[in-house]
Amino acid sequence: MSVTIQQLIQWKQQGRPIVALTAWDYPVAQLLDEAGVDLILVGDSLAMVALGYETTLPVTLEEMMHHAKAVRRGVEKALVVVDLPFLTYQESPQQAMHSAGRILKETGANAVKLEGGYDAIAQTVYRLVQAGIPVMGHVGLTPQSVHQLGYRQQGKTPEDSERILSEAIALEQAGAFAIVLEHIPAELAAQISKRLVIPTIGIGAGPDCDGQVLVTADLLGLSSRQPPFAKSYANLRQTIGKAVRDFSIEVREHQFPESGH
Ligand code: KIV
Repeated sequence: MSVTIQQLIQWKQQGRPIVALTAWDYPVAQLLDEAGVDLILVGDSLAMVALGYETTLPVTLEEMMHHAKAVRRGVEKALVVVDLPFLTYQESPQQAMHSAGRILKETGANAVKLEGGYDAIAQTVYRLVQAGIPVMGHVGLTPQSVHQLGYRQQGKTPEDSERILSEAIALEQAGAFAIVLEHIPAELAAQISKRLVIPTIGIGAGPDCDGQVLVTADLLGLSSRQPPFAKSYANLRQTIGKAVRDFSIEVREHQFPESGH
């Protein structure tokens, strides 16, 4: 049985933490799904981890859809959520409807995610949800606003933490089914998680969120740089580098292929 958005809300009520990770291609998606990840996010962080851009801003809707289709083909069980990239939803609810509709229709994803919770975004979320498009919110550090916010922790002053809390409430009222809380103080994330009925998925937001998400390239030790709150559970840069160096040596020394290859 595939994971549903209703199940995520039930899991919050039952106190069962939600496991979420990002994926950008077929094999990564297949490995995550087979390992039992609940929610697979085709995050626009793929601009940096898979396409080599400095920020998430340059990635296009077409590029996101290309990656989302590959991820979708690798997933049987997890809920697949796709990020709406920069400037494909902020202009108007119509623009958001067009972009989100294309993602759902053409990639087979289950839901979209967008950043921010100010009034216009909450209204857009309301319109998308009314049209039958499940939406996940994202507040706190929002990487699409890097030129305004940098990659600094958000919500450190009382005014800023009040703003983030009201954005999260506005997104829930607009019909979002879950909200990513990125790089905010743990106490603020705990307060938001307690206040909302829908689950919060934290990244750099402490242990009291209803679930946790990491960028899979960071988890695997594939990224050349990663945020301070990420944890690597493997060092694939080292493993892959060694495999490639070993292959190169064996080719140059005429040791590969052997008769069995
Ligand atoms: O793009 C992404 O990978 C994300 C996660 C950091 C939640 O939005």
